[in-house]
Amino acid sequence: MAKHIDRNMTVKEVLDQYPETAKVFQKYNLLIVGKSCGPHEPMAFFTKAHGVEYEQFAQELEAAITAKPEKIEAIEIDPSLIGDTIYQKFIKTALIVSVTTGCLYGAIKLFEAGMGGSFDVLSKRAIQMHGSSQLVGWVGLYIMGFFYFILPRLKGTTLAGRRWAHLSFYLVLSGLVIRALFYNIEQTGTPLYPLVAGLLDTGAAAIFLGVCLKTLKQSAEPKGIQDNFLLAGMVWFLISGIIYSILNLQLYLGAFPSDNPLIAGSVPPYLFSAWVHLFLMGFVFNFIFGISSKTVPSFLDTPPVREGMIKKFFWVYNISLIGYVVSALTRIQAIYFLTLLLIAHFTWFFILSLRIFERRVGDLDDVRMDRNHERFIRVGYGWLAVSLGIALFQLFTDDPYTQHMLRGAANHGYTVGFVSMLMIGYSMKMLPVFTGNRIWSSALTKWTFWLLNIGNGSRIGFEILSATKDPTIHQIVGFTGFLEVAALVLFGVNIWVTMTKEEAYEERPIVEFTGNETVYALTEQFPRVIPVLKEAGFEKITNPLLRKTLGRAITIRKACEEQKVDFKALKPKIELAMGKS
Ligand code: HEM
Repeated sequence: MAKHIDRNMTVKEVLDQYPETAKVFQKYNLLIVGKSCGPHEPMAFFTKAHGVEYEQFAQELEAAITAKPEKIEAIEIDPSLIGDTIYQKFIKTALIVSVTTGCLYGAIKLFEAGMGGSFDVLSKRAIQMHGSSQLVGWVGLYIMGFFYFILPRLKGTTLAGRRWAHLSFYLVLSGLVIRALFYNIEQTGTPLYPLVAGLLDTGAAAIFLGVCLKTLKQSAEPKGIQDNFLLAGMVWFLISGIIYSILNLQLYLGAFPSDNPLIAGSVPPYLFSAWVHLFLMGFVFNFIFGISSKTVPSFLDTPPVREGMIKKFFWVYNISLIGYVVSALTRIQAIYFLTLLLIAHFTWFFILSLRIFERRVGDLDDVRMDRNHERFIRVGYGWLAVSLGIALFQLFTDDPYTQHMLRGAANHGYTVGFVSMLMIGYSMKMLPVFTGNRIWSSALTKWTFWLLNIGNGSRIGFEILSATKDPTIHQIVGFTGFLEVAALVLFGVNIWVTMTKEEAYEERPIVEFTGNETVYALTEQFPRVIPVLKEAGFEKITNPLLRKTLGRAITIRKACEEQKVDFKALKPKIELAMGKS
């Protein structure tokens, strides 16, 4: 018997051509994965990514098609899942922050250090403004937006407390605006604005935790390998918000006085650095590790991860993070170094357990799809492994400037080489699924990859060499930030357009009207049919969202049957609107 479905057909093609298969997708909880019913993902990849056995699934789809149902059953979909765009404002704002008060500002400061011939010329206040805006505004917002969208889908439920989720966005946004505005106003004395921003961030982190916990609670899905990481990440997010607020309360109360204008109005670097480590390694790394444990084998077609090892890693890694708090409180450098040593070793061990650098298993060799995300994810983990090694070199030197350069290079490797690289890689794969659109430009993706790697590699390399205090090397490192900003701008444009564009109608054109076309396919190709359908009693046809979502799962004949509209009488009117009579 000839097959209707093949491994390279996209989910969208299957649902458009065979709307009767929608119920099989729904049975596996795979119907609403993005804005539309059905992303442009090949079936073989889609099933592997969702842990569904392809052959079995394809057989069920074939059975649904060959059954040739007289009428296609209406599928009930929770309206909150249709056209869900909650992630968009988080991601768009994160992109704006990254290329303004975040990376661009960082690049200007780096340029100043380059021209000044030393990193010591930088104001700590400015760096702390850049660091907190980047961590909370770029990475924090991005992760929150992503998770509000994927958590309900991962767990087969709906987002609990959607209004609260929106509120958490406005809290973070207000904190970012306050940082950007008052940083320039409060130039002298002890600043209040970081404390206010910190309290707003902490409120947002608490809401994020509450919304995610409630969503998890209403899910009947079994616990996955990623869940502990995600939970720990949320808790670290809240803890680091509280720590940031306490540090800035102390700053406001005058606990860190200084006559040096480069230091005045800032938290002491050893305390700020502890906060940076907890935010990054506690909140951000846990999230990335969780998602990687779940997705790497399907996204990279690599062997299954070593689950037992990863479960053990989770505990030792998270317990070791407490060392950063203890070393900051006691100021005992040995504890800091021991923590660094443990974190580096456990994380290398985790990367090996992910099996990310092993050969492909070849399950998806025959599948035609965009694979740009793979290099971002692999190279990102490579930068993480290297950056941990660079941080460890601090153990072998007593020179404070060399230690500063090694720490700065390692931090940049974590934040840009690993975190930003992974954010871009996962966005390339997942945002097209969220939006139902293909990635706008593959060429821009490649430019982003190379610019980011050249910028990050030269920043790390020349920052380490800056330990020699050579002014020429400082000048070179001073320019590298602009390469990374350019990379992030290209990424931002690419993702922005991907999120907002309306994909052109690309299905096979309808030549002859039979009634078996989906409402969506017909109205997309012949928009003049829309008023005809409305007049016939299909009031909701003018709602573009419903037309694009539910309209994909129902044929004209079936819709007439349900609305008790006489198909025979309607057919000539539709043909007239199509210009066919
Ligand atoms: C174009 C990209 C970037 C440039 C040019 C840049 C530049 C800088 C510079 C010059 C410093 C001061 C380094 C020092 O004093 O040793 C710094 C620190 C910092 N950056 Fe960036 N940065 C960039 C991207 C990022 C990103 C994406 C993040 C976060 C995800 C980030 C987070 C931080 C943090 C947290 C610090 C403070 C570290 C500490 O004091 O412990 N930066 N950055």
